[in-house]
Amino acid sequence: MSAEQGSTSPIVPEMPETRAEAEHQHGEIADRIRGFNQAYYINDEPLVPDAEYDALFNRLIELEARYPTLKKNSPTQEVGAAPADGFAKIKHARPMLSLANAFSRDDVVDFLARIRRFLNLTAHSPVEVVGEPKIDGLSLSLRYENRQLVTAATRGDGTEGEDVTANVAHIKDIPNILPEDAPEDVVEIRGEVYMARSDFHKLNETQAETGGKPFANPRNAAAGSLRQLDPTISAKRPLRFFAYSFGELSESLAQTHWEFIARIKNWGFITNPFTRLLHDADDIMAFYAEIGNQRPTLDYDIDGIVYKVNDFELQLRLGFVSRSPRWAIAHKFPAEKARTRVKAIDIQVGRTGALTPVARLEPVTVGGVVVSNATLHNRDEIERLGVRVNDLVVIQRAGDVIPQVVEVILDERPDDTLPYAFPDTCPKCGSHAMREEGEAITRCSGGLICPAQAVERLKHFVSRNAFDIDGMGAKNIEAFFELGWIKSPADIFRIEETHGETLRKLEGWGDKSAEKLFASINQRRNVPLDRFIYALGIRQIGQATAKLLARHYGSLTEWRMAMNNAGTPDSDALRDLINIDQIGPGVAHDLIEFMAEEHNRDVLDDLETVLTVEDVEAPQVSDSPVSGKTVVFTGKLELFSRNEAKVKAESLGAKVAGSISAKTDYLVAGPGAGSKLKKAEELGVTVLDEQGWLDLIAE
Ligand code: IVH
Repeated sequence: MSAEQGSTSPIVPEMPETRAEAEHQHGEIADRIRGFNQAYYINDEPLVPDAEYDALFNRLIELEARYPTLKKNSPTQEVGAAPADGFAKIKHARPMLSLANAFSRDDVVDFLARIRRFLNLTAHSPVEVVGEPKIDGLSLSLRYENRQLVTAATRGDGTEGEDVTANVAHIKDIPNILPEDAPEDVVEIRGEVYMARSDFHKLNETQAETGGKPFANPRNAAAGSLRQLDPTISAKRPLRFFAYSFGELSESLAQTHWEFIARIKNWGFITNPFTRLLHDADDIMAFYAEIGNQRPTLDYDIDGIVYKVNDFELQLRLGFVSRSPRWAIAHKFPAEKARTRVKAIDIQVGRTGALTPVARLEPVTVGGVVVSNATLHNRDEIERLGVRVNDLVVIQRAGDVIPQVVEVILDERPDDTLPYAFPDTCPKCGSHAMREEGEAITRCSGGLICPAQAVERLKHFVSRNAFDIDGMGAKNIEAFFELGWIKSPADIFRIEETHGETLRKLEGWGDKSAEKLFASINQRRNVPLDRFIYALGIRQIGQATAKLLARHYGSLTEWRMAMNNAGTPDSDALRDLINIDQIGPGVAHDLIEFMAEEHNRDVLDDLETVLTVEDVEAPQVSDSPVSGKTVVFTGKLELFSRNEAKVKAESLGAKVAGSISAKTDYLVAGPGAGSKLKKAEELGVTVLDEQGWLDLIAE
């Protein structure tokens, strides 16, 4: 919600003439805005159209410009209503990652087994991990240069965060200066900003007394306090910080995580007192139970335990899978549950045509957040639960995941309920809804004629991880689609030309807001290849896969050509595609099917006329002896696992393939190599043993 649009709309009362009237009007609008904020940010249910919100919000700003004391306790000063472009951005020197989750002992055992497999260790070799509580706050990266705090940045999208340096200056858990034994050049310390439960309750009491908005939970309070545009407000909020990790370092600080924690503790950082060295799954489970028991008595929220491989050298070898490290995992505590009643069951149609049933609920608080919708996933799930409208149900909410209905309380079922009849047609376009064999999802068969799918695809196209067009949110996409201005993605880039003049005059808009939108559209006329591929919304192609494809093919032209050619069975292009680590036949099939559709190729051609898709820069390892080479691993490897070898080779700029061809540069063969070795010898491919490979890449 931006505060840009004009305020001449009929919903906004006349501009008052006296101060007393202004105060009165300000109070009334402020109350309404707080109600809207609560509905939008906490209940996830907007009460008014954006234009109306914006017009009212704008009036607050106008009144405050005339009578600045009205700013005190105004929603214009609170987060949840902060202008989107308030903070400067900081690019992280090392990305800020997330963690994979474990929910059971089996998941923990798997985690340890995966590590051993990757490192080619025997099933019983010791793998030491450090366990520490997972703090439910916001991660923060602190950068020190010359031992002096220079910047503090939020996680943001992991690559780029918000500059909150001024806001952390007053957090007493964060040292401003590092001692003499810290490296002089660069030290980045990472950890969690949080608010203690006791401080959160006190803050909410004060908020209530001063007419401020109460926060839903300590995490929101911490986020709202840290992300204050006015650092003097931040300074008054009781924020705390636990340090647990690092980003860029000009020299290594320790050999193990355990030593690292001890060292930064000496520097004055607060580390969690429940940090423990653990040796095996039994140790881990005992620690998990122990902390779980302590959980209700702690003065801060935790949502699980994080386990990290202790040895930094092993961490380095283990590396990352897309956005999370292989060497760490978050073991979550069970989800919080609550009971409430189902008011209705609605069907949502997604961008791939999936029909998702959603339970509309009597609002209920679960884990500090008001929930009024829960997903029912699909037709089978509704049948499994036997859920009906008006049933009393148990819902659960874990972390950031969408709340789910887990159980129906049959004893409490009202007399007059009926089984829910899942529709056989799409509620949005009336087309037949079908289920493919073996699939859980019912899909609308309307394809291009289904407006719901079209609109969802467009929303996906502009979303944060895709084109990320500021000011072109879901609401505007819906409005422009309704008006018939935007039908396909390229239309977005033509809107200034085709409907610019009309937009400037549209209710709720104006020259200024229209200009701002055009500017943010124009900013996105150059787009990295991975974002472009992701934005297309091809089934199964998420961010991680889009990145893999972009890195592998390098340019839009190469990628398009390869996807076209891969449609031919038994082609090199198809083999090459399936040979990409983590791309299986299913994903390959969806890519090929997408490119086989003439309509999709038209969309791509059209987009190419309005924007430039940037090539992927070659990895900065061009001086590695294997960069640009194609390598195949075969036989039983003993010094490393096949996966580790593959990851390492790729990090050095080599391509790893699954089969030998004339294009292969090296075959690395362990004992027992068979047909591949024979073929390599026939084709004159250089054959190395494991040690030979290690020597080659060590050059
Ligand atoms: S380590 C590369 N340790 O959890 C791993 N994260 O899901 C970096 N978090 O964004 C994270 N307590 O905000 C780590 N003791 C802890 C943590 C922790 C909370 C948060 C952190 C991160 C998220 C990952």
